Amino acid sequence: MKIVLFGKNGQLGWEFQRILAKLGEVIALGRNDLDLSDLRAIQTTLGDLKPHLIINASAYTDVDLAESEVETAMRINALAPGVMAEMARKLGSVFIHYSTDYVFDGKSDMPYTENDQVNPLNTYGKSKLMGEENIREAGDAYLILRTSWVYSLRGNSFVNKVLGWARKNETLRIVSDQISNPTWARMLAEITSLMLARTSPNLFETIRESHGIYHVAGSGQTSRYEWAKQILANDPYRSEQVVRHIEPVFSKDFPAPAVRPLFSALDCSRFEATFGLRLPGWSDTLQLGMAE
Ligand SMILES: NC(=O)c1ccc[n+]([C@@H]2O[C@H](COP(=O)([O-])OP(=O)(O)OC[C@H]3O[C@@H](n4cnc5c(N)ncnc54)[C@H](OP(=O)(O)O)[C@@H]3O)[C@@H](O)[C@H]2O)c1
Repeated sequence: MKIVLFGKNGQLGWEFQRILAKLGEVIALGRNDLDLSDLRAIQTTLGDLKPHLIINASAYTDVDLAESEVETAMRINALAPGVMAEMARKLGSVFIHYSTDYVFDGKSDMPYTENDQVNPLNTYGKSKLMGEENIREAGDAYLILRTSWVYSLRGNSFVNKVLGWARKNETLRIVSDQISNPTWARMLAEITSLMLARTSPNLFETIRESHGIYHVAGSGQTSRYEWAKQILANDPYRSEQVVRHIEPVFSKDFPAPAVRPLFSALDCSRFEATFGLRLPGWSDTLQLGMAE
């Protein structure tokens, strides 16, 4: 099987690069190989490579900057995935794409299902929702996997930020009124690959039959404040921490260019039931990842 992976240097894409090699020949592309704002280049590249499977782990993910770079966010998050889906349909390839909990407005108090009303509050959420719509219009054998609070244990992730702050500050102030499901990028890449491996004898037909939107995230829900506390509790080098107090604060105390939904936890039971897989608890996954 020939696989094209977009976004190889991102949190999710980096994990995918290692895992997908078990499924087939992987052509992993980053910004230096192909700038996704060049829609024609996406068509040409996919047309030349003719992959069986296209995985889009790339996105414009700077939620605050998107408020001032609307056109770029729209091109990468809305137009580029539409072109990928159209090419996948023309080539008879399977297309896997990721979307976000930020398509919701956060006014619910129950985890969101795929049938719930979308109403994004910020440009990032709007651009990702347009991406979903473009894929649904152009696509054939596609899955849109909405996920939430993706972190990795490398780079500038929330986990590493909290660990860094705890080494420099005696008091940390972390928002306690934003609730969702922290999702380890490795778990997300692994569960996607497992789902693909299971369906691989009839990959195209199976994905075509089950095409649509699914929620896929770490099981359970928490606040950023509780998440930060668990990150610090699982820190393998706790003696380096100077932090004494972790203060819960409200989002309104941290004004940012983009408004975030307060409650955006995802109900992932449709994915679990359709593909016969179980999503591990966010807290267990965090503990496992940080122990490595
Ligand atoms: N992070 C979250 O909390 C979160 C939450 C919900 C959903 N999601 C979704 O989950 C998926 C994976 O997210 P992630 O956290 O792994 O994202 P990420 O770490 O920000 O990675 C995104 C990748 O896209 C690449 N990219 C951006 N603009 C590009 C362009 N013009 N041309 C080529 N490549 C470009 C980036 O390249 P560079 O490395 O060169 O910048 C980066 O490697 C995305 O669809 C995202 O929307 C993420």
